[in-house]
Amino acid sequence: MSATLQSVLDAAAAAGKQLDSVSIAFALGYLASRRQQQQDAEPAFNKIAYKLNDGRKHPAIGFGTYKCGVVPASASAGGVPVDTVSAKQIIQDAVDVGYRMFDCAQFYANEADIGEALEATGVPREELFIISKVWGDKIYEGPDAVRAQLKQTLSDLRTDYVDLYLIHWPVPGKHVAAYLELEKLQKEGLIRSIGVSNYTISDFNELMDGGATVVPAVNQIEINPFLHRKETIEFFRSKGVLMQAYRSLRAGKEHDNVTLGKIAAKHGKSPAQILGAWAVQHGYVYV
Ligand SMILES: NC(=O)c1ccc[n+]([C@@H]2O[C@H](COP(=O)([O-])OP(=O)(O)OC[C@H]3O[C@@H](n4cnc5c(N)ncnc54)[C@H](OP(=O)(O)O)[C@@H]3O)[C@@H](O)[C@H]2O)c1
Repeated sequence: MSATLQSVLDAAAAAGKQLDSVSIAFALGYLASRRQQQQDAEPAFNKIAYKLNDGRKHPAIGFGTYKCGVVPASASAGGVPVDTVSAKQIIQDAVDVGYRMFDCAQFYANEADIGEALEATGVPREELFIISKVWGDKIYEGPDAVRAQLKQTLSDLRTDYVDLYLIHWPVPGKHVAAYLELEKLQKEGLIRSIGVSNYTISDFNELMDGGATVVPAVNQIEINPFLHRKETIEFFRSKGVLMQAYRSLRAGKEHDNVTLGKIAAKHGKSPAQILGAWAVQHGYVYV
């Protein structure tokens, strides 16, 4: 018996009713059409997902939260509100157009705002895919600081776990110990999948030779048609690591590129849409 049929019968039994075959067929038809309506209402981009090397699902397209509401003090021109649009409004707008994956980081200095904003949207936690990253200062301080930072991030983001937690940069001499701490935190259930960011081939080899037992699920690096490090990408893919493309839009600096403009005109799309499609068609996560 299907789970759906069982749930119809259970509901009827709970209401003290016996269902005939016509009523059952009607109820099943109604449930199927509601499921289809929900699927049709979901933006197409949420239907594309990748499978990670730990078996979990990862959305293909997500929303980057860098400079969302504030520019980090340590960034150029940092420490000031970006513009008049609050993080709360930005996140609500992102959710409204269908984003469910959010790429956050300790470094972005806005996780408390993002957490408050996500909570205010009312989207159930299990529908969200939340990523965060530990910054170099904590990696440098050592495993205890990495652990404390994850707990701070969880508190800021108002969640019990992150779907994915990354080593933001391979701090020399320090990143392996930090990653080993992420392995422990994963076992404790605070992180679903673990990964890295800005890793080269030699950083990966150093990590695995240094005693890592969990192959990183992802490596988040800059990838776009203007910076396409095929050798690096192929290497990581051969190890089962999914590539996340940040700065997929080349920070908006190539939107007047002639070739990009020709492709955009040919397809009746904007340069940004072409760059996004390029990332997904190449099998990268488009952040
Ligand atoms: N792991 C890392 O080390 C790392 C590093 C960098 C970024 N990231 C992640 O990747 C995300 C994206 O990176 P990014 O913001 O640096 O670069 P990006 O996405 O390549 O570029 C963002 C810029 O593109 C322009 N833009 C965005 N949408 C557009 C559209 N539809 N049409 C025209 N222009 C558009 C905007 O420029 P204007 O503001 O001029 O309009 C925006 O500031 C970040 O939020 C962060 O989550 C990670």
